[in-house]
Amino acid sequence: MENISVDISNVFGFITRSTIEGLQNLVLEKNLALENKSGKGNDFLGWVKLPSSISDSDLKEIKATADQLAQKTDVIVVIGIGGSYLGTRAVYEALSHTFLHLRSKRQYPVILFAGQNIGEDYLNELMEILNEVRYGIVVISKSGTTTEPAIAFRILKNHLEKKVGKKAAKDLIIAITDARKGALRTLATDEGYKTYVIPDDVGGRYSVLTPVGLVPLAAGGIDITTLVDGARSMEIITSPDTSFNENPAAVYAATRYTLYRLGKKIEILANYENKLHFIAEWWKQLYGESEGKDGKGIFPASVDLTADLHSMGQYIQEGERILIETVVSVKTPQTRLTVPKDADNLDGLNFLAGKRLDEVNKMAELGTLLAHVDGGVPNIHITLPELNAFYLGQLMYFFEKACGISGYLLDVNPFDQPGVEAYKKNMFALLEKPGFEEETKRIRKRL
Ligand code: PA5
Repeated sequence: MENISVDISNVFGFITRSTIEGLQNLVLEKNLALENKSGKGNDFLGWVKLPSSISDSDLKEIKATADQLAQKTDVIVVIGIGGSYLGTRAVYEALSHTFLHLRSKRQYPVILFAGQNIGEDYLNELMEILNEVRYGIVVISKSGTTTEPAIAFRILKNHLEKKVGKKAAKDLIIAITDARKGALRTLATDEGYKTYVIPDDVGGRYSVLTPVGLVPLAAGGIDITTLVDGARSMEIITSPDTSFNENPAAVYAATRYTLYRLGKKIEILANYENKLHFIAEWWKQLYGESEGKDGKGIFPASVDLTADLHSMGQYIQEGERILIETVVSVKTPQTRLTVPKDADNLDGLNFLAGKRLDEVNKMAELGTLLAHVDGGVPNIHITLPELNAFYLGQLMYFFEKACGISGYLLDVNPFDQPGVEAYKKNMFALLEKPGFEEETKRIRKRL
């Protein structure tokens, strides 16, 4: 059985192997701190052993509930933001058919998302579509008080109740939230919704393998058992018992930390498979929120290639030399397509005739990698043998483990996000939320 792999050979023009390997004891210490819960934020380390602690009966129960909802619906709207949204979207978009919503016959409902923006047109247009289909809602908020999903839920709950009646709506809504506290817990109890609990010791951005991700993904037809199996295997591979060079999370964390100390302040996650777009969005949240504090941290950015070679490619090749490029590459696509031969060859493409598109894509990838390294951008290359649930489970757990280690290398708490409160305070002051009277006065003076 192959596993995902990390190749750092294209950083050696910038830093040496011995500098990276020189960090191995420190990295092991940080990995042990995650394992033993002895580091910063240690009340949020439930994710470390999460894959191995999910039981088959948990998965069975989740699948049964998700199936029940799926059978009654054509569309499921997943309401959530940040860690209560991105993991689900990342896995769903990576593993489901790109044009599923246009198929006339579908085995599973289409998953749509709300609560991750406050756009008026977005929700209005969504409701126009929801008028025409049978739909259900999975509403997710750990705190149960986040404004964006709470607004979306208030609006869609009203919409659904008007459409099918309050009694029927109740059976079409699942709430995933804290066991005891928060407005969503109170609402779910009062209304009698089916609920799932987000464990206290798992923060939003590390929660994809809790009901946060598993319930909506199962409803959308994703094989959650295999996803969890992949994560379980990576939990073993990245444990402190594995030697440094055999542990991809240790190698990745040590390499990017060494590059950061060299002045590489931005890491770009690049994919050559469009379905990975939201994996990059999920990764950006994971690393941005975990590392970006106390004036420290690599800024996580992303590009979809080859599309962005025609835009951001210029900066990557010749802009300020503060970049690291990390490519997530899929070794073998699920389907085949070759370039046809053309008798007239007016486009001059007959030199590609008979070649698989993937071969063209891989040569674009290799050519770009070499050009960017030549241009001064160190490259880390992560390979997924295939884009399937098992390797996505591996990839996500690998990134989580490396992120925990990276945060500890930077000596920050990778499991809090105090910085996200600042905008909320201003927004509530501007909207005159009760309790924010002083802030309202202060902010009005500034305007
Ligand atoms: O990673 C995090 O903790 C955050 O991104 C949260 O997931 C996000 O703010 C949503 O919070 P909640 O689930 O409480 O609505």
